[in-house]
Amino acid sequence: MPRIAYVNGRYVPHAQAMVHVEDRGYQFADGVYEVCEVRHGLIVDLSRHLDRLNRSLTELRITWPMSRAALILVLRETLRRNRVKNGLFYLQVTRGVARRDHVFPAADTPASIVVTAKSTDRTVIARKNAQGIKAITLKDNRWDRVDIKSVGLLPNALARQQAKEAGAQEAIFVDENGIVKEGAATNVWMVDAQGTLVTRPAEHGILRGITRTTLMDVAARLDIRIAERFFSVEEMMAAREVFITAATSICFPVISVDGKPIANGHPGSVSQKIREAFFDIAEKTAI
Ligand code: PDD
Repeated sequence: MPRIAYVNGRYVPHAQAMVHVEDRGYQFADGVYEVCEVRHGLIVDLSRHLDRLNRSLTELRITWPMSRAALILVLRETLRRNRVKNGLFYLQVTRGVARRDHVFPAADTPASIVVTAKSTDRTVIARKNAQGIKAITLKDNRWDRVDIKSVGLLPNALARQQAKEAGAQEAIFVDENGIVKEGAATNVWMVDAQGTLVTRPAEHGILRGITRTTLMDVAARLDIRIAERFFSVEEMMAAREVFITAATSICFPVISVDGKPIANGHPGSVSQKIREAFFDIAEKTAI
């Protein structure tokens, strides 16, 4: 079945899905994106993803390319045309096409919008959940507005590549004081010696992950104690359990960091419990 993408008002075959060479996303990474999970034919946490899209656009003063209701229709239609039951959609909005100039183009320049969708292999995700993943730590070298989900992901891409070359699957950014920030494309969690689930506050320095927010609902429902506080690499290395979250993976256990095992080097029970309850508690929207 051919893949279909939505590009600025048209559904086109994936191979012909193009944007203009002077799109500001292409030249300046002047755009934002969202990735949203689809499971059993249901979109997971759509409202929260669209609320965060609104926040990212507002922070960058990019106007919505269409109404929220129209965008939901496009997202559903793109998923339908690609027959995605388990997978994800990717949506990207940029400040549009204009002659190259660092300052913003005229206010009436329409934003560009692209939506793609793909199915994912749930057996690969299940294998990662069963086996756990390895991570490395890296000094954070990103700008200080990583709370905006911008398409400027070069440091994240370089970090993931470095992880791969070290035989790991995620890179965890750390600040200059040795405090854990987040993964290249995930939020980071640990279970401390008291059994409290800990993650860094999201006021600044990290992206406020939607999976992170919903996971807090899940933890509350499961009566798991939770704390938003800073924690160091040292504390993470001594944790009972470490895991990472993102819409693409929900909750992957981390079994080693920088080549050293976390706890006994096997996936922990807290991440498993949370993963099992997550889908029931998250908001679900029919395609
Ligand atoms: N990444 N932190 C960063 C830097 C991220 O890029 C992501 C998501 C997250 C988790 O956010 P959420 O739970 O809303 O997916 C945290 C997406 C999946 C990506 O870039 O593919």
